[in-house]
Amino acid sequence: MTPDETVQVGLPGRRYDIRIGRGLLEGAGAAIVDATGALKCAIVTDETVAKAYLDIVATSCAAAGLAVHPIVLPPGESTKDFGHLKNVLDDLLDAEIERKDIVIALGGGVIGDLAGFAASVLRRGVGVVQIPTTLLSQVDSSVGGKTGINTRHGKNLVGMFYQPSLVLIDLDTLATLPDRHMRAGYAEVVKYGLIADADFFGWLESNGAAVMRRDHVATRHAVSVSCRTKTTIVEADERETLGSRALLNLGHTFGHAIEAAAGFDDRVLHGEAVAVGMMMALHLSAGHGFSETQRVADHFASVGLPVSLNDLGLSAAATDLYALMAQDKKMHAGKITFVLASAIGSAYLKNDVAGDEVLQALRAYGAT
Ligand code: NAD
Ligand code: GLY
Repeated sequence: MTPDETVQVGLPGRRYDIRIGRGLLEGAGAAIVDATGALKCAIVTDETVAKAYLDIVATSCAAAGLAVHPIVLPPGESTKDFGHLKNVLDDLLDAEIERKDIVIALGGGVIGDLAGFAASVLRRGVGVVQIPTTLLSQVDSSVGGKTGINTRHGKNLVGMFYQPSLVLIDLDTLATLPDRHMRAGYAEVVKYGLIADADFFGWLESNGAAVMRRDHVATRHAVSVSCRTKTTIVEADERETLGSRALLNLGHTFGHAIEAAAGFDDRVLHGEAVAVGMMMALHLSAGHGFSETQRVADHFASVGLPVSLNDLGLSAAATDLYALMAQDKKMHAGKITFVLASAIGSAYLKNDVAGDEVLQALRAYGAT
């Protein structure tokens, strides 16, 4: 099927399309051959996604003349680790995937981050196509080239910036996504409204329920605005050196610590941790003039997103979470850089937040 919309990511020398629409999996092979000229592909996916979508994508790739090698991993955040990275790299080498071949990441952010990182180091770089199948991966992780794995020291601490050659977003895949994962992805959608687009936040307040029930028009709009916003930010600051890309981390420093405290075991999903982390970041922001924390909490609650550690069923000491936050990549010269909001639709970076303020924000949302 033809995409409803194509967003172009205009990075010099590495332009690529994000195609958004329905029924795109059936034409994935032709689109990939057209974009990359590959002759062979490895499809990295997880067991859950494989059951629903591997055949469609593999058949489409074979029909387009690609030799196909599936690599199927266990589902869940714990797959994004050194052990599975090693296995994927060995499987890719067994399949003799070469520089001009392509790695297809078919799945959520776990598969996208892991397969993207594997592609970036295999033979010093093999092309990767992202076919995201969760809301979170469609609006965030498949776009912009952040790849990597977790280590015992924390989240995403080993990785690369490595842009894909193509992103294919088939909105029909959301039909099989469990509601809990739909909600988790929605947290990243709200993030775009909070950091960059007050009108979009207002639209979400009216249309969030329609997105959650996968109304096609509403979902397409939410995915499209999210991808366009992220593209603009990535084009301006691909490697997060200038500051604007760091705004995409609203709530993430808190969120990553929450995920680490939960042990990366899917008891707490990334998007759920980020939702609570955003509430904590807005609490910090309130100390510096932000006045709409309750409005955001009300919107989260209206779509069933957690707003506190209690909602996550997690008990953690504020001091322990704070220590975990110190491992995050947003540290510079011993200080943590926080993303704060000045208003809905406007965010900024601050690296001189007092430790006591951070502990208060953690405690305001359930840390002991
Ligand atoms: P995920 O990849 O674990 O997918 C969630 C679950 O949904 C999995 O069990 C998966 O098997 C299942 N699933 C996937 N698609 C499905 C479908 N269509 N139907 C039914 N089940 C389906 O998690 P996620 O929320 O997609 O991604 C989270 C990861 O993304 C985290 O590791 C996070 O760090 C990372 N992330 C990366 C970036 C980035 O810029 N690279 C941005 C945000 C998040
Ligand atoms: N998800 C944050 C980023 O891509 O920068």
